[in-house]
Formats: sequence, C-alpha cells, structure tokens
Amino acid sequence: MTARKILAFLSIPALMFSTMALGQVHDASVANHELHYYDVADFNMQAGDITYADHIAPILQDSCIQCHRPGGGGPMSFMSYEEVRPWAPVIMYRTAIRDRMGAMPPWYVEKDIGIAEGFESDYSLSDQELAMIQAWAQNGAPRGNPDNEPPPMVFSDSDEWTLGEPELVLVGPDVSRPAIGPDWWGDIGLVPTGLTEDRYVRSIEVREVNDIPADQGTNTVGGRYIFHHMTYSSGVLSEDGTYVDPETRVSWPIHEVGRNADRFPDSAGRLLQANSALHLGAAHLHSNGRETTGHLEFGIQFFPRGYAPKYTRRGPRTGNGIDLDVVPNRANQALHNYVVLQNHTKIMAFEPHLHAPGVRMCLEAIFGHNQFTLNCVGYDHNWVKQYIYKEDKAPLLPKGTILRTTAYMDTTPANPNLADARNWAGGGRRSVSNMFIDLGYSVTMTEEQFQEEMAARRATMKDRNDYDVGCPLCWAPVPEYEDVAGEDD
Ligand code: HEC
Repeated sequence: MTARKILAFLSIPALMFSTMALGQVHDASVANHELHYYDVADFNMQAGDITYADHIAPILQDSCIQCHRPGGGGPMSFMSYEEVRPWAPVIMYRTAIRDRMGAMPPWYVEKDIGIAEGFESDYSLSDQELAMIQAWAQNGAPRGNPDNEPPPMVFSDSDEWTLGEPELVLVGPDVSRPAIGPDWWGDIGLVPTGLTEDRYVRSIEVREVNDIPADQGTNTVGGRYIFHHMTYSSGVLSEDGTYVDPETRVSWPIHEVGRNADRFPDSAGRLLQANSALHLGAAHLHSNGRETTGHLEFGIQFFPRGYAPKYTRRGPRTGNGIDLDVVPNRANQALHNYVVLQNHTKIMAFEPHLHAPGVRMCLEAIFGHNQFTLNCVGYDHNWVKQYIYKEDKAPLLPKGTILRTTAYMDTTPANPNLADARNWAGGGRRSVSNMFIDLGYSVTMTEEQFQEEMAARRATMKDRNDYDVGCPLCWAPVPEYEDVAGEDD
C-alpha cells in the first residue's frame, strides 16, 4: 500500500469513497445503486495533471460527441471546452452511474461479471477514463493547454446513415399523428423491395423522416418522432401483391426510437428474396405535441452476389412476453426463464427487452453442474440497446445447455421510468404492461461447425487454465466421430 493510500484510509470521506468502489453490489433497486468511483493514482496518474485538452476531450470525442453535438440527438453539445465546462459535475455523475438507467454513455454492460470486453462497437468508458473524469471534475475542470486539444470532429450531415450510404433504400408510407392523441397501434402495409433476385442483407438501418423542422425539435427524443417502434418482417409477395407468403417470412430486428443500426455477422446474413416486400405489421405511433407527418426509411446494404451464410437456422427465443406478474412498489423483483438448447448454439447478440419497471437482465448458461453468467446488463426503458458479441467472444454452447434469463424489476417510486408505483401489472404490449424477452439472436450449429469454432477459440488461449466462460466445452475431449457417424441431427 502506498503512503498516499494509507493516508486515504485514515480520512473518513476517502474511506467511504473506497468502500463504494469495492463494495459495488449488483442490487437491482434504483435507489441502492452505487456510483462507480475510481482513483487516478491507481493508474499512475496525478489528479492535478488531468486536463480537458489532454485527457477529457479525447474521451468525449470517442464516446459522447456522436450524440452531444448540434443535431446529434443529445440535449447539449460537447464540442468545445466552453460548452463542456459547465457540465463537468453532471458529466462526472452521469458517467459514474455506469451500468444502470441514467448512465452516460448509454451502454449498460456490467464490466465485472461474465464475458468481459465481449461486444462490438463498445463506446463505454474504462475504469481509467472514469477515474480521469472524476479527478478532473473534482479539480475544477481545468482546460490545460488549448494547443493540445484534438482537432474538432467534422460531421458532414446529421441525417447521414450511420453505416454509410445504403445500396437500397425502402420508403414506408407516410402516416400522421395529431399534436395530442392516444397512441395508435397497427398494420401500415407492404413496401415492395423491387428485388429481382435473392440477396443476403449485411446491414439494415431504420430512420424516421418527418416534417418537424430540425432546428425546432424539442430536446427530448419523444418530441422529435412519432414512431415509437415498428415490428416488421419480409417475405415473397403473393401474385396479386396484397400479402406476403407466410411460408417465406423472415423477421428483422424491431425498429425502436434510439435503437442502433443492425449489422449482421458475416456468417449469418439475412435473406431478402426476389419479389419480396417488407410487411410493416405492427407500428406503434405516438403523438408528440405537434401535428406531425412522417415515414420510416430502411437503408439496406447487401453481401456480394453469390454469398451464402454459414448459419441458416435461428436459435430459440428466450423470455416471456405474456405470463408475467409484477407486483407494485417493490425493488429487486426477479423473473426467470429457462430454455433447453436442442442444438449446439452460438449466441450472436443479447438484447434485453423489458418495459418501464425493468432495471437489469442477466443471461446464464447452466451446463452439467456448472452455472456460468454469460453477461448481465442494466436496462433503461428510454434506451433500447442490442449488444452484439464479437466473433471471438460469442458464447458457444453445447446442446443440452439450459439458457437462463433473469429480469430484474424495480416498481418503487425510485424508478423514474415508471408511470405509477401503486398498481400491479401483468404482461402486455403497452409500456405500462410488461415484457421480458431477449430480442437478441442466436444460431444453431452442426457438430462440425461447433467443433471447428471451439478449435479456433482454443487456439487463441494460452493453455488449459485460460478459461472462457462462453465456451464451456472448449477444453473437453473431442468426441470420436466414427461413433456418432450417421447420427447427426
Ligand atoms: C447515443 C447517444 C448519446 C451518447 C453516446 C452520449 N449521450 Fe449523453 N445524452 C444523450 C441523450 C439523448 C440525453 C438526454 C436523455 C437522458 O438524459 O438520458 C443525454 C443526457 C446527458 C447528460 C444529462 C444532461 C442533463 O440535462 O442532466 C449528460 C451529463 C450527458 N448526457 C453526458 C454524456 C457523456 C459525458 C457522454 C460520453 C461519455 C455521453 N453523454 C454520451 C445521448 C447520448
């Protein structure tokens, strides 16, 4: 222990500080959630050396400015020192929430449990970055030498597609909402793709285009849009063009306000057939205080012609959308769901879907007498996030594994997302009712694919003691293929 730390332990506020950092429990009550505090000294830095120019501006550019800039969706801009400076204490607070509702940036993966650093496009902050923000804010948010500030980021057009220019843009029908009115929920019809050949989709991004002037939008996401969400699928159009053949249906990730675009892994592109159409089967529209007309645009990029996906069969859905019992005014309510995997399964993405009471969801794998936590993430019903596993971190689970999802709810007044803490609520589609589903996706693997992927994973590990919770059989002996020949399901 350094002299500095011994001193810290002698002074009472500092002692409280360190127990807070160490004693972080994964309590699923909003009121009990502890802030995550770190000390720059643990990263061999001096608190007094931390400046906006050298340390903070680069963090903001990496993790915040995509939203916190004019037209970027965040309520204020963090492009310059003058803009950032007054927010320093609030930035310190919101970033220290880290993995629960209210956290900034909105990315809620718990870092100290399960598959660490497991996800694509992770813009969350590291312990060291949090330590720097905290030291800087507590030290009066000094600027440092402006010459050291990174050059300002340039954003050409705030309406740009985040995944680049699509090869195909499909435009849904215009719909209107009055300034004030009840929510509307229903089918808004078909959008023919015009494709004359089957193509596999690499990415899809959905955006709402409406007549709210960009410079007059309100500061809230709810005031800028009318589509709360859209559940849609695709399939081959009937001969008369009036419906989609149910046998050919392909489902797509739900569009929700604030949701990221979807890029499918190279091994699992999704099919859009020749002569197909999107079926916009379930739009949920919401009045936003101003009479608004708008539509959705679907920006699609394809895999090259001739591409064939390695995996074609989806894994099971987990969770429960109907049979729920959420009691009023109670924190730490847990709901459980179990699914037995009928095939070897690779989990590609985790997308907790709860409603307003939801604060956390965990995904566990029970295999033999072992129970592994794959990941736990916080939940904020204002932000719908899908977490896509990196190719070399995606859980590879053997047939027979029990996938267990646990949802945690807080129905006390401490949960600001809740409309009313007094009422019992069951399952249902409206936000005042509940859902408990993992909307992520998984694929099933043949025995050969399973063995091949585990071998690739094993090759990246140092030795048998290098353990991967997402790959419980990685070090198990390879079964004798002669014995199982002909039994492949
Ligand atoms: C994906 C977009 C996005 C990213 C990335 C993001 N923010 Fe935000 N931020 C928002 C939105 C939208 C709000 C307003 C809604 C809310 O408070 O949740 C907000 C609110 C805030 C607030 C609270 C403002 C207030 O009025 O109290 C702070 C502080 C903040 N963000 C800081 C940050 C910091 C610091 C980062 C990066 C470390 C960051 N945000 C990253 C979109 C984003």
